[in-house]
Amino acid sequence: MGLLDGKVAVVTGAGHGVGRGHAVQLAEAGAKVVVNDLGGSTTGEGADASVAQAVVDVITERGGSAVANASDVSSFDGARAMIDQAVDEFGRLDILVNNAGILRDRMIFNMDESDWDAVISVHLKGHFAPTRHACEYWRERSKASDEVNASVIHTGSAVGFLGNVGQTNYAAAKGGIGMFSIAVAQDMARYGVRSNCVAPSGSTRLLPTAGDAVVEPDEYEEYSAQDPGNVGPLVVWLASDLATSVSGQSFLSVAGTITHFNPWTAGTAVTVPGSDRRWHPAELAHAMETLVFKTRHPGLMGGMEFGGDSPFRAAMG
Ligand SMILES: NC(=O)c1ccc[n+]([C@@H]2O[C@H](COP(=O)([O-])OP(=O)(O)OC[C@H]3O[C@@H](n4cnc5c(N)ncnc54)[C@H](O)[C@@H]3O)[C@@H](O)[C@H]2O)c1
Repeated sequence: MGLLDGKVAVVTGAGHGVGRGHAVQLAEAGAKVVVNDLGGSTTGEGADASVAQAVVDVITERGGSAVANASDVSSFDGARAMIDQAVDEFGRLDILVNNAGILRDRMIFNMDESDWDAVISVHLKGHFAPTRHACEYWRERSKASDEVNASVIHTGSAVGFLGNVGQTNYAAAKGGIGMFSIAVAQDMARYGVRSNCVAPSGSTRLLPTAGDAVVEPDEYEEYSAQDPGNVGPLVVWLASDLATSVSGQSFLSVAGTITHFNPWTAGTAVTVPGSDRRWHPAELAHAMETLVFKTRHPGLMGGMEFGGDSPFRAAMG
């Protein structure tokens, strides 16, 4: 018995890297899988339907069930066709893993409009479009009194939680995906659909450090901290009935470590002295000492820490 026996999954961007690991492991756990991949370059140019088919071949050779889909996830109609394909081929849909992604890193002052639009489109609209069509399907099933126990897993990034130099387009998209996941959880709770966000890691073709030596997750013969397939177990678990009480959560998965990320939370508050008045701008220097400098963001990545002396203290003279 697999954790996902009888379930049907769609995984976007499953032709390479992290998503490929998800698709293979979801199938190993018993799910029937629609392997989506446009088959383009890491910057989003071109298309190749054989990329998704190659992963279908890996899954079927290992005894699993899968079909290929070459839709562009940022196409509203293409995303609908992908969700319809799962239902037409396998009779139902239980799991959607939004994972497809590209990169076009530039410093903000050099970023072209096309670099911004492409990254926002593939990541942010590419999460919205499949999720929207899947949620319409699940709402209809719920209203028809079917028992719905569905899971959407979105792909965030530490960059979306913490920012990074040269990635304003990607940070905006991934930060948006983190909040999109929470709002989907809120919209769909009454219909039996949960929504969570996973920030993955692993050496894939998307990372310049990987060079030509990209090893796909199903090609590793032993454990490696670089293996993008290390994220798969968390995705399988979130997709399973073991996780029915987990929704609206965000996780960072790096090698063998899973970190729970809290969403935007209210920090320290200061209230104007006295009552029935607003702040004077000059008074805010004192308030900011408490609000900002006594509650520094801990930071995870180099350069994330606020450093140096308080500008507010300097402003106070
Ligand atoms: N690898 C990491 O360390 C890491 C870290 C943080 C986040 N991520 C995220 O994980 C996801 C997977 O990245 P990866 O590192 O495995 O990269 P990858 O390039 O190996 O895989 C991404 C896949 O998405 C596909 N894709 C791109 N645009 C598409 C589109 N419009 N429609 C359908 N498919 C499309 C690509 O063809 C590719 O197969 C991305 O969302 C990425 O931002 C990866």
